[in-house]
Amino acid sequence: MSHMHVAGTIHADATSAAPVWLVKPTDANALVDGLWSQTAARVDDGQLRIGGLTAAEIVEQAGSPVYVVDELDFRGRALTWAKAFEGWGVYYAGKSFLCTTVARWIEQEGLNLDVSSLGELTVALRAGFPPERIGLHGNNKSVDLLRLALTAGVGRIIVDSAHEIGRLEQLTAELDTRAQVLIRVTTGVEAHTHEYIATAHEDQKFGFSIAGGQALVALVRCFHSPRIDLKGIHSHIGSQIFDTNGFEVAARRTLRLMSQFKEATGVTLDELDLGGGFGIAYTIDDTPATVHDLAASLTDIVDHECRGYGLERPKLSIEPGRTISGPAGTALYTVGTTKDVEIGGGNTRRYISVDGGMSDNIRPALYAAEYSAVLASRTSGATPVLSRVVGLHCEGGDILVRNVFLPGDIAPGDLLAVPASGAYSRSMASNYNHTPRPGVVAVRDGKITPLVRRETLDDLLGLDAGLQA
Ligand SMILES: Cc1ncc(COP(=O)(O)O)c(C=O)c1O
Repeated sequence: MSHMHVAGTIHADATSAAPVWLVKPTDANALVDGLWSQTAARVDDGQLRIGGLTAAEIVEQAGSPVYVVDELDFRGRALTWAKAFEGWGVYYAGKSFLCTTVARWIEQEGLNLDVSSLGELTVALRAGFPPERIGLHGNNKSVDLLRLALTAGVGRIIVDSAHEIGRLEQLTAELDTRAQVLIRVTTGVEAHTHEYIATAHEDQKFGFSIAGGQALVALVRCFHSPRIDLKGIHSHIGSQIFDTNGFEVAARRTLRLMSQFKEATGVTLDELDLGGGFGIAYTIDDTPATVHDLAASLTDIVDHECRGYGLERPKLSIEPGRTISGPAGTALYTVGTTKDVEIGGGNTRRYISVDGGMSDNIRPALYAAEYSAVLASRTSGATPVLSRVVGLHCEGGDILVRNVFLPGDIAPGDLLAVPASGAYSRSMASNYNHTPRPGVVAVRDGKITPLVRRETLDDLLGLDAGLQA
């Protein structure tokens, strides 16, 4: 997707109908395999049911729009990762979605937790997550954040800059403590994903460059630093990645760096973290690998590269986020208006406006992410029409589902469900247009548990200093 012209994607879409990958479904009510959480199904009257509750029951109890987390699915995915990658350190990437309940689920399923801000670290600690199982990320960690991490006993800090090393040296001396550190490196891998979610090419903000030599310098500096325990190397090449080629190149380059470090110091580093970024299915166009296949191929890749450099296999770790939280979450919206728009070539697109939008899912606007949707409050025999699900915000780019075939009789009051909405939706949500952010609920065995309360207008007005005067 090109970002040469801000309106480019919108103009381009206006002259085409459905994208090639979007096949008109024979049954627009069907829940396509691989897109939905484990307990999602259509019940006899046609409603979508998740965790034993119909979409209407969930909205009745929790309001609309709402993010629905299928607890059994979330826990099941977490456990699948832990088991498939047995022997590895598996860190759930909290940035994809974190609240205290989720932190507890992650702990109970035996995973570690990756946080990347003062807020996320505070949530984890308030949840009682064992600090020694927390990894802390961030390219600009404040002194306060580093101090909290050191005093709480965070298990590892993934260091991203020379300034951060300096801050850690000062703070560990001041607090009379030690820091467990991994060095985040830039491998120069061009991950095949959107530019804004690729993180290992050279021209971006994360990590120390291997090619430029800064990574080796940082490793050697930490190795000699009296209060830093240097554990290893961290690489994250991007997000929503489907093939393992990028991980292969990243493993080769990080292990070569390990062997250079060994030459320079005589010491073998203990750990290699390959980051997260494993892709999930948002639409029928996405075909992710299974967790077990990923585990097997990543292990093979590392073993092969280790043999090449004559290194023992280091302790390995990974940081899956979206693959756990994404498919476990479904967003429910209520339809407000529909409108047919001529898009040229004799084609029409139906715009279906719902009660949420870019404030509760910025991903389509931010990096042209594609989603799908179904009618959730009933089934329909109406012919599917090419539709676009849009929000209520004052932006033409306020799109939730860019291309989807939905039944032609969708009307105000119908509920729509957007699968794979559990990752980077609530966690990236905003209050644009003074819109309160939706609540998040867990559903399981017919019971709803609030995870994050819905915001109210009073919550927002409570921040308005003019009203408090
Ligand atoms: C360092 C790091 N680890 C892990 C992740 C998780 O990625 P994903 O949720 O795509 O698995 C990210 C995402 O941005 C990241 O930056």
